[in-house]
Amino acid sequence: MRHRRSIFGSLILSATVLVLSACDKAPPEPQVSFSKDVQPILARHCLECHAGGEGTKASGLKLTNYDEVMQGTKFGPVIKPGDSLSSTLMILVEGRANSAINMPHGDRPPLSAEEIKTLRLWIEQGAKNN
Ligand code: HEC
Repeated sequence: MRHRRSIFGSLILSATVLVLSACDKAPPEPQVSFSKDVQPILARHCLECHAGGEGTKASGLKLTNYDEVMQGTKFGPVIKPGDSLSSTLMILVEGRANSAINMPHGDRPPLSAEEIKTLRLWIEQGAKNN
């Protein structure tokens, strides 16, 4: 009896510790999906020029599927999994580069803060093909 109670007690204790440490952190960010979340953004803002059009012709970058996104331009990758800060694609869509080469190119409207956050989280979460 006594033995059982002490096991029960330690279960409660560890459950309490778990709850407390979970409360300590900010709520976890949702898992971003490439196909459900990222692809629609690229389709809306980028495919006009990066599905073989002027953007692809100038840079070699196609953005119609996961493999193409990860392959990048003729000069190399534009996504660094886990590192949104130095991913070229993020630098351009966040307007951190020379305004002449920010993306979308030309007079197209920039991405919304929400869309940028989705791309950033996807890269931070490892740029998975999910
Ligand atoms: C109106 C056409 C157009 C649209 C829309 C567009 N691009 Fe581009 N993109 C270009 C052109 C043209 C280049 C070649 C570089 C240049 O001439 O500035 C390019 C180049 C790039 C590059 C390579 C830059 C480098 O350093 O080599 C990336 C990355 C890129 N685009 C990402 C995007 C993303 C992401 C989107 C959507 C959010 C997008 N582009 C939308 C035209 C476009």
